[in-house]
Amino acid sequence: PRKIIIDTDPGIDDAVAIAAALFDERLDVKLFTTVAGNVGVDKVTKNLLKLLAFWDKGVPVAIGSDRPLLREAINASDIHGSTGMDGYEFPESKYELLTKNHAVIEMYKVLMESKEKTTIVGIGPLTNTALLLRLYPECAERIEELVIMGGSLGRGNYGVLSEFNIAADPEAAKIVFESKIALTMVSLDVGEKALVLPEDCDKIQKMNKTGDMIAQLFQHYRGGNLETGLKMYDGCVIAYLLEPEMFEVKESYVAVETQGTLTSGATLVDLEGYLSKEVNCRVCVDVDEKQFGQWFLEAIRKCD
Ligand code: BDR
Ligand code: CA
Repeated sequence: PRKIIIDTDPGIDDAVAIAAALFDERLDVKLFTTVAGNVGVDKVTKNLLKLLAFWDKGVPVAIGSDRPLLREAINASDIHGSTGMDGYEFPESKYELLTKNHAVIEMYKVLMESKEKTTIVGIGPLTNTALLLRLYPECAERIEELVIMGGSLGRGNYGVLSEFNIAADPEAAKIVFESKIALTMVSLDVGEKALVLPEDCDKIQKMNKTGDMIAQLFQHYRGGNLETGLKMYDGCVIAYLLEPEMFEVKESYVAVETQGTLTSGATLVDLEGYLSKEVNCRVCVDVDEKQFGQWFLEAIRKCD
């Protein structure tokens, strides 16, 4: 199985990604790290520990950055609820899974101690990964790939042109995009097509206890408006790791705007090569919606 570290801010769509990763034998989750994003780092860590208690999984959890590198924190509690994962009565958090060290140190240890290279899966703001690359540059060659949910080809979901994970910490994202490490960006555009429809929600609710839990969380995702489908942004990253053929991928130079007075946090995906820069990213530009829907149902079925 492919070794991965999941850097996350759960988050209802994060919870789906975490479920899919933990129960698929093609992936081996070595570590979870948390980062302030959807809500503060204390809350997202608590959410993650609750999920692990729910499944009785013993993967270590390291608390990471409580704020962006340079900016004030933003959040997305309007989408995920004030706890970051509203909608389900979980068992008590598994605090014994918490590591002593900060996320960045634990990431470093996993990367350096593992025989094979490890993939970092980023489904929150990129603060921890940026700090890792700055503190321990020798890690770069131990990273197989960075696969992140973040950025957009055009329009945004936080700002006019900015996606939330990049908008939350553009300076961190810039460090990651300029790192020259193999990088795949699962864009907002793809996440917007990766929908869970009301009928899928009914199906998973009856499937198993994970499906029931996720279906209940979904009642609170985006204010519980299931009609037009729920966007599984973070789940797409796991789908990409497992079944990349459902995505259309283009290689491109991608720059992160940190200076723009109106466009901070935007990703410039230079598909036409206007900037004459070297390719630094594999960009998921499209997804087969039907295949994603089938994958999602299968992924939840495995969560038993
Ligand atoms: C991203 O922002 C968060 O709200 C989601 O969990 C996802 O990681 C989508 O823009
Ligand atoms: Ca997330």
